[in-house]
Amino acid sequence: MKRQQIAAGNWKMNKNYTEGRQLAKAIADGMDESENLAILGVPATHIKAVSGIVKKVANLEVAAQNCHQAESGAYTGEISVSMIKSVGAKYVILGHSERREYFNEGHELLAAKVNTVLGKRLIPIFCCGEPLAIREAGTHVAHVKKQLEDSLFHLKKNAFSKIIIAYEPIWAIGTGVTASPQQAQDMHKAIRALLADKYGATVADGTSILYGGSVKPANAKEIFGQPDVDGGLVGGASLKAADFLQIIHSF
Ligand code: PGA
Repeated sequence: MKRQQIAAGNWKMNKNYTEGRQLAKAIADGMDESENLAILGVPATHIKAVSGIVKKVANLEVAAQNCHQAESGAYTGEISVSMIKSVGAKYVILGHSERREYFNEGHELLAAKVNTVLGKRLIPIFCCGEPLAIREAGTHVAHVKKQLEDSLFHLKKNAFSKIIIAYEPIWAIGTGVTASPQQAQDMHKAIRALLADKYGATVADGTSILYGGSVKPANAKEIFGQPDVDGGLVGGASLKAADFLQIIHSF
C-alpha cells in the first residue's frame, strides 16, 4: 500500500449506538473532500450504521477493534472478519495493548488474526509498544522489534505491504503523558529501518506508521510533523468530534 497520512480514532468501549451515530455524523460533516484519510475504530454494534454515515465522505472509513482468528464456527460471542466486512469496515485494529493485557492476546494468536484479516482483504492496523519498565530499562526498541517480528514477519512482502503499524507506548495510553515528538520519531525510524532490513526500502518507505498515546489537538501537529510519523491512533480525543476534527486537520 501507498504510505498515507492517517488519523485513526479508537473509540474503545465508549458511546452507545445513538451517541456513536451522532459522533460519526459530526465528524463526517466536519470533513472536506481533500482531507487525509481518517478512520473511525468503533464498537462492533456500531459498524453498520457508522459505515452508512461515512460513505458520504471520500476519505473517511471504519475499523473494527478486534476480530476472531477463525473464519466462522462455534465461538460464542465472537465476531468474524467476514461479518465485519459485510457491514462495511475496511480495517481491523489488532494487537492493541488492552487486548494483549486484558484478553491475553499473544504473538501467535495475533499472527493468526493478521492472516485472517488479510485473507479477507481487510487491512490490519497492527499495534505495538512497550510498557514503562521496558522504556526505563532502555530496551524499548528491541521489545517493539520482537512484537513485529513475532506477529508480522511470517508475511510475504506483498501481504506485509498492506499492513498499517501503530506504535503506542503503553505508558502514554490514556495517561495524558505523550511521548515527545523526538521519542516518537526515534521509534518510528527504528521500525522503518527494521522493515527495510526485512522487506526492502520500497516496502519500508510505503508503510504508514501511526503514533498512539495521548494524542490531542494541542500536540498532534508537532507529532505528525516528524518525518517518520504518518499520523495517529487516537483514543480519548477521538470521542469528541471537535477534538478529532482538529487532529484530522493537523497534517
Ligand atoms: P489515548 O489512547 O489516545 O486515549 O491515549 C490511544 C489508544 O489506546 O489507541
